[in-house]
Amino acid sequence: MHTAACIFDLDGVIVDTAKYHFQAWKRLADQLGIIFTEEDNERLKGVSRMSSLEIILELGGINPGDEKKMEYATLKNDWYVELISKMTPAEILPGSVQFIKEIRKKGIRTAIGSASKNTPMILQRVGIQELFDAVADGNNITKAKPDPEVFLKAAEMLNVDPAECVVFEDAVAGIQAAVNAGMRCVGIGSKLVLAKADMVVSGLNEMNPEILSNLENTKYI
Ligand code: BG6
Ligand code: MG
Repeated sequence: MHTAACIFDLDGVIVDTAKYHFQAWKRLADQLGIIFTEEDNERLKGVSRMSSLEIILELGGINPGDEKKMEYATLKNDWYVELISKMTPAEILPGSVQFIKEIRKKGIRTAIGSASKNTPMILQRVGIQELFDAVADGNNITKAKPDPEVFLKAAEMLNVDPAECVVFEDAVAGIQAAVNAGMRCVGIGSKLVLAKADMVVSGLNEMNPEILSNLENTKYI
């Protein structure tokens, strides 16, 4: 199957924002007297803001009610925005810009498919908006991954058939979302964890257009 477009998750694929999410959630957890570790943080990757909060509250055995939950999520996001507003282009993960530029030269269209409502700010801070023909993010979807909505939205914005898209994802829920969208997917991280991906690499620095076309040849939909 020919590849017409590549859709990239943002957090954990192009930039490492997990550390900022951790710092902000940790600040909230500390304030609520909840023990929250970096290991716990792994469970939040690719998970929506409200679902992340639910996981943390569950760790602490707290159920504060909807109003308080909104207050906590807003507080965390304010702290998170404070951290990401200082991001610089130096924080783009190795090989990302080169790979995206190479595929664009070959006529492949590119999009972001991220759960984050902070996507526009991150893209602007690290200066890579012009690398994408479309941005589907937490601001224009209602259903979180593993629902395929965000990737289908990106394909629609690009006017490309989902079967002609390849997704790049670091989270299990994101790989499942790509599968649910009828798209091929490249996992970023560990083969053991991302077993449903068509192939797994440790980062976009391991990718090039030739590897991408090998993926096209091995998969037929
Ligand atoms: C995902 C992250 O990309 O976006 C999650 O992996 C995060 O950790 C989610 O919770 C939502 O992000 P935001 O910026 O809208 O709170
Ligand atoms: Mg991610």
